[in-house]
Amino acid sequence: KILNEFCDEYVLIGEDRTSMPVQYLNFAQQIKNFEVLDDDIWIATYPKTGTTWSQEMIWMIANNLDFEGAKELLVSRFPFLELSGLFDEERAYTVMEFGKGLYNLNSVEFSANLKSRPRFIKTHLPFSLLPDQIKNGTKKPKIIYVVRNPKDACISFCHHGNLLQGWKIDADSFAKLFIAEKSMYGSFWKHVLGFWKYRDAPNILFITYEDMKEDHPAVIRKVAKFLEKELTDEQVEILAKHLSFESMKKNDSVNMGAYVEHLKKKNLSNEDGAFIRTGKVGKYKEELSPEIIKELDAWTRKYIAGT
Ligand code: A3P
Repeated sequence: KILNEFCDEYVLIGEDRTSMPVQYLNFAQQIKNFEVLDDDIWIATYPKTGTTWSQEMIWMIANNLDFEGAKELLVSRFPFLELSGLFDEERAYTVMEFGKGLYNLNSVEFSANLKSRPRFIKTHLPFSLLPDQIKNGTKKPKIIYVVRNPKDACISFCHHGNLLQGWKIDADSFAKLFIAEKSMYGSFWKHVLGFWKYRDAPNILFITYEDMKEDHPAVIRKVAKFLEKELTDEQVEILAKHLSFESMKKNDSVNMGAYVEHLKKKNLSNEDGAFIRTGKVGKYKEELSPEIIKELDAWTRKYIAGT
């Protein structure tokens, strides 16, 4: 067990010794034994790499741009597998209270019991903590993995923790924990490389946040091809508009606005911000000190050498 500076209690778990909140242990076995379906569609990401943005894109493509269906909250259309394992009791209660029992205190069961097919499942778990059936290849759901520059992910994670997780930490201090791989979900690079090993598997697709920023229609087409869906040029354009930063920020089905407000009312948030925050590439330059940026770059070089 480790107790880090913002007072979350973590355990180091799995082959990669990933630091996870102690509450995760209540769900670890259930996740290991999770019944995967071959037609499931999963998104796997390190936190803050553009998960929500990609989830909405994936769901819309797979559901033939069902704008009516997309009015339902994304967290219920595309649930977060290990969510219940991330919170202490008070926060878990608040999450459930907000979601009106949405996950019924067990996001793993909620995900398992989704009625519609295909099921859509989000996880931030590293490959080493995925259900056995995915790890041993007996089930091959489609998995889309999203990568983002770790310096932007790091900054975004710091804001996220202060906003939603009860942390109270400045950017450089958080970055130190991030490089030491002691923040929630542990090592960014072990996470990416754990999936990168399987990049040539036909059921795995890698996309990047930066590519989505640069040419979103191209990524939409790539994902559509992977999901075996056909989109006209007009549909691609309509979807890109729906997924634009401005539109997602206003979209209450995806922006977590009501949840953030709820936490703020309960005094469980330490930041005056929004979940869909700045949506920029390279913002880290304004928030991290040059020394920490150097450390982050050296740490990155160590991991990616030879890959
Ligand atoms: P920033 O904090 O850098 O703004 P995740 O969903 O994995 O938690 O990632 C959240 C990050 O994705 C946040 O980054 C958020 O603003 C950004 N994001 C969400 N929707 C977006 C969109 N439509 N366009 C660009 N960035 C988006």
